[in-house]
Amino acid sequence: MVAEGTEGRVITLEEASKHTTEKDAWLVIHGKVYDVTKFLEEHPGGDEVLLTSTAKDASEDFEDVGHSDSARDMLKSYYIGEFDMSSLPAKVVAARAAAATRAAAKSGEETTQDASQDFDDVGHSKSAIKMLEQYYVGDLHPDDLSEKARAKLERKESAEKAAGEGLFGRITKMFW
Ligand code: HEM
Repeated sequence: MVAEGTEGRVITLEEASKHTTEKDAWLVIHGKVYDVTKFLEEHPGGDEVLLTSTAKDASEDFEDVGHSDSARDMLKSYYIGEFDMSSLPAKVVAARAAAATRAAAKSGEETTQDASQDFDDVGHSKSAIKMLEQYYVGDLHPDDLSEKARAKLERKESAEKAAGEGLFGRITKMFW
């Protein structure tokens, strides 16, 4: 087990998929990997369901049951590392994105907005921020950015410009 609040190493689906038995079982839930071997016998829903949820992203299985807050709280005792989202098969990622868009459209939720503030509010980890790169498709037109995001972009651009202008620029860039 990795100490609470510490980020564990990054684990791919391939590696997680090697732990699928009652002697050694890992689960992937919401971007984190858990070694539930010791929990199998204690699980109120039984060990079978846990074993069938190994070797994949089990977030939906976990959510479908409507686990209580205390069940969610238990997760941290089994945490062993961060899940490498980029190791999920492309078709799983695409199916999820489509489902999320459908769900958002159904609930009338606005998806076409600058979500930078929402993203920042959650306080995402460094590895979560790095994961963004895998899903990058292009830049938003500056007119459509939120005020804060635009100010950030302007700071970045001026730091980049200054970077081309010698040592001062390089230092500015280092601190931006
Ligand atoms: C480490 C991950 C998990 C933990 C800590 C956990 C914990 C718990 C706990 C404490 C309960 C009792 C009800 C509650 O408090 O919500 C429960 C029930 C249940 N869990 Fe999990 N669970 C985990 C993963 C899963 C997964 C991946 C599945 C897959 C389908 C699953 C299926 C169920 C089912 C079906 C029940 C209902 C049992 C019943 O009410 O008869 N659980 N779980």
